[in-house]
Amino acid sequence: MDAELLAEHAFGVPRSRLRLAADPSPEQLEVLRRLVARRSARVPVQHLTGRAPFRYLDLAVGPGVFIPRPETELLVDWGLSTVAGVPAPVVVDLASGSGAIAVAVATECPQATVYAVERSPRALTWLRRNAAGTGVRVVEGDVTAPATLSEVDGLVDLVLCNPPYVPDGTPVEPEVGEHDPAEAVFGGPDGLEVIRPVIARAAALLRPGGAVGIEHDDSHGAAVPDLLRADGGFAAVEEHRDLAGRPRFATARRLADCNP
Ligand SMILES: C[S@@+](CC[C@H](N)C(=O)[O-])C[C@H]1O[C@@H](n2cnc3c(N)ncnc32)[C@H](O)[C@@H]1O
Repeated sequence: MDAELLAEHAFGVPRSRLRLAADPSPEQLEVLRRLVARRSARVPVQHLTGRAPFRYLDLAVGPGVFIPRPETELLVDWGLSTVAGVPAPVVVDLASGSGAIAVAVATECPQATVYAVERSPRALTWLRRNAAGTGVRVVEGDVTAPATLSEVDGLVDLVLCNPPYVPDGTPVEPEVGEHDPAEAVFGGPDGLEVIRPVIARAAALLRPGGAVGIEHDDSHGAAVPDLLRADGGFAAVEEHRDLAGRPRFATARRLADCNP
């Protein structure tokens, strides 16, 4: 797959047409050889092509931003299903990175007002690029701070969040350790340092009956639902698995009668 993606990029021929295309020129072959050498040195293929597919999108990515992962598409699926009957939903993507979640929601649910919150200046450059022309409102801020986006507290229909959640010190592949920003991957000693305050922010942002979905480490299939229950502001707490059967995201509904 990676070889085909690199050949597509080097030759300017769609993957599906590679076997039918004319022989590449010596210059194109040299470009491919260099790309293969960098991939062999464990540079992610998305950094070499500058693109990452996500649902119906082809996002711009590169150094300084987390590469969106296919499993996060399931979180978006679930989120879209919760606002399907809402005429003009307000949706917040906390820890937006490249904007994968926010831009997917904005393009697949054009009647939504979508906010994307991100703190990293380098990630914000990619986020603004991917969000351009989509209507996504980019907010520079700390997702754990009560003041961030407090102007829509109590008005939001859906909060989605794929935060940094890998426990500090967990061994990761070179593609992740050397190329995804550490602040996008590691979530403190137990991996829950961003998730804990995000749950409190979600409780404040959501209208009664609004929904939250938070992606988490596969070791946190019990911990994140427990944190949602412990908050006291949520009902209908559920755990969801990814296509490989691993615990992947937790969801809940905001209770009507509770002040966090
Ligand atoms: C795992 S990445 C997810 C990016 C994107 N949502 C996705 O699914 O591809 C987490 C993102 O959270 C950002 N981040 C980490 N801590 C943050 C904080 N306290 N406030 C805002 N953004 C934060 C990182 O810069 C990174 O872009």
